[in-house]
Amino acid sequence: MSEHSSTLLLFGATGDLSRRMLLPSLYALHADELIDPALRIFGTARSAYSDAEFREFARTALCEFLPEDRKAEGMIDAFLQRLHYQALDASQPDGFAALADKIGDISGGLSIFLSTAPSLFEPTIKGLHSAGLAGDNVRIGLEKPLGNDLASSCQINDAVNAVFPEKRTFRIDHYLGKETVQNLMALRFANMLFEPLWNANAIEHVQITVSETVGLEGRAGFYDDTGALRDMVQNHMLQLVALTAMEPPANLDATAIRDEKVKVLRALRPVAEGDVVTGQYGDGAVKGEAVKSYDSDLGKPSDTETFVAIKAYVDNWRWQGVPFFLRTGKRLPERRSEIVIQFKPVPHNVFGARGGRLEANTLIIRLQPEEYVRLLVMAKEPGLDRGGVTLREVPLDLSLTTAFAGSRRRIAYERLLLDLIEGDQTLFVRRDEVEAQWKWVDAIRELWKTTGLRPKNYGAGSWGPNAAIALAERDGVSWHE
Ligand code: BG6
Repeated sequence: MSEHSSTLLLFGATGDLSRRMLLPSLYALHADELIDPALRIFGTARSAYSDAEFREFARTALCEFLPEDRKAEGMIDAFLQRLHYQALDASQPDGFAALADKIGDISGGLSIFLSTAPSLFEPTIKGLHSAGLAGDNVRIGLEKPLGNDLASSCQINDAVNAVFPEKRTFRIDHYLGKETVQNLMALRFANMLFEPLWNANAIEHVQITVSETVGLEGRAGFYDDTGALRDMVQNHMLQLVALTAMEPPANLDATAIRDEKVKVLRALRPVAEGDVVTGQYGDGAVKGEAVKSYDSDLGKPSDTETFVAIKAYVDNWRWQGVPFFLRTGKRLPERRSEIVIQFKPVPHNVFGARGGRLEANTLIIRLQPEEYVRLLVMAKEPGLDRGGVTLREVPLDLSLTTAFAGSRRRIAYERLLLDLIEGDQTLFVRRDEVEAQWKWVDAIRELWKTTGLRPKNYGAGSWGPNAAIALAERDGVSWHE
């Protein structure tokens, strides 16, 4: 298969992801001349659009979602000329031949981006196969949800892999396309400073927070069937755990990196009863605005969790006994994704007799919305110290936004679409990773069932139920806020 595909096919082309992310990302790649001028882009969905109507649809999406400094009429017009459209009801096998006809010659390679309802995966794959759109030079990118437990994920993966072998299957976790998530690897493996201390000898615990202020965002049906554990922990948060905890790979090869990540995912200890807390938001206020409870947003009572906090362990040599506190939720006080590495205290306080009190070092890796790495270190307060030494925690700050002020910040899908078109699997999730993730998550859900765990109420705009604070405090840990 030629490395670069000359055709891209987007399923769900008129959907929300396409409007907000995919079309703006493809436009950015076009504007920066990162995709071949000859790359043809086909959209498909159920809506009965002509090419011209789809181009108008795309224009409207670009006007709405591109940053102002990116909008240039001439450039948008040129980009739209790449777009073509074929309507398709993927549940009907007949339509795929017309799609293949419309696309025409794919001898230059075809990349497919498939984001669809779980029930349409199998018919879509079959339809592509029967229409000759699944040959050796075709690769497929799969957007979540890829099942809702291990069994359904295996079923989808079996159906996909029957037609697209693993080396042509690109499972998307958009967190892996985020610049700062990749920076985590640079921080760990491009610096001598951290890696010798990156283990149970020096690290007391790790915290990973992915908090959001938004609620259901018009996705009530999907979210209520899914919940925070499966929406955020099963994929994004476990990928963050894997990147934080993995051994150094030998190089940046897709296989080398994914081999190391999967070892971590397989080493996750089954979560114990009492080490997981779930919550659901009630009425409250987020950023000064009154918001309604989850039940009112949904329009009916529900047991779905909109918040989850977990104490997890990676049972291997490097991480023995180090808790990883994970929490994520909707309608929390701020949007924030961060990894906090809490180091152990120094073995002996030489300042103690002079009144100097020490805090253990903390490393904060803020992934979004700001992008920085901040190391909290102890420093002596200036003075003659006649009454004793005063030490204070001060930040050693690396703002990635400032350090790389001249570089364009790219959204995750720009990189992921480009990698798909160019055939680089490094930032895509391998089947064994997904299965290890589901195995761990399924066991948590099983535990909820057997123990009858129900989500606790928390006020919208708070950091989740009090039990989440207690979960950390039992180990003498405070969530980083
Ligand atoms: C998606 C979840 O995968 O990630 C959403 O389905 C969530 O519920 C989103 O809002 C968060 O992504 P980001 O990039 O805004 O952190």
